[in-house]
Amino acid sequence: MPDRAFDDPRLAALYDPLDPDRSDLEPYAAILTELGARSVLDVGCGTGTFAALLADRGLEVIGVDPAEASVEIARTKSDAVTWLVTDATRLPPLDVDAATMTANVAQVFVTDEDWLATLRGIREALRAGGHLVFESRVPERRAWLEWDRAHTWDRTEVPGVGGVESWRELIGARDDLVSFRSTFVLEDTVVLTSDSTLRFRSREQIESSLADTGFTVIEVRDAPDRPGREYVFVARRAD
Ligand SMILES: C[S@@+](CC[C@H](N)C(=O)[O-])C[C@H]1O[C@@H](n2cnc3c(N)ncnc32)[C@H](O)[C@@H]1O
Repeated sequence: MPDRAFDDPRLAALYDPLDPDRSDLEPYAAILTELGARSVLDVGCGTGTFAALLADRGLEVIGVDPAEASVEIARTKSDAVTWLVTDATRLPPLDVDAATMTANVAQVFVTDEDWLATLRGIREALRAGGHLVFESRVPERRAWLEWDRAHTWDRTEVPGVGGVESWRELIGARDDLVSFRSTFVLEDTVVLTSDSTLRFRSREQIESSLADTGFTVIEVRDAPDRPGREYVFVARRAD
């Protein structure tokens, strides 16, 4: 079940306006160019910014996300993308050059069972020798230490909505699981919250889960827009 932040139409509509800087996406597009990918499956496409950007550049793109409200927004960004309300374990037959998971989608899979099933589903969708590119936060950086009101509070004027106050608060951090609440106050009156739990896997855990599901890790890069904070995995389907 996706978090309310992605699946409530009022909150999904705030995702892009509250986080308009998508300088994280261009490095992904550059990796896909390096890999020579012409067809891409974007898993956890959310409101579709990356999938639409790739389609605008002539790639064949399938964007999938279980949050219907987010996919509804994605549909308004491109008619060229095939948008599907689903996850990587329930895909139609595909044979794509590459798959991506941008903006830490990999961390939403809290259980090993869901994470491994997702990796297997992606492997199945890739052509022989196809690539998977995704990121996960470096756990040692403990990003959640700044997930409090003081660091995250903001007020944004959102066209068609009005003033939106938003902030994030930690609910709990135990082992490699971090839970937090996002609060949104619309026009000083409507208060909406969304609770999330993310898994902060180590680099070794991710590498071993990739090996277990039929991938060879080619490289682990840094994210140029968030130096030292992210592992960006480039893996190839092992045949
Ligand atoms: C932080 S958003 C990232 C969205 C998008 N990739 C981006 O770059 O803006 C995380 C996304 O993961 C999606 N998600 C949640 N559970 C999922 C699942 N089981 N499979 C695929 N995506 C999932 C959410 O619905 C949400 O759209």
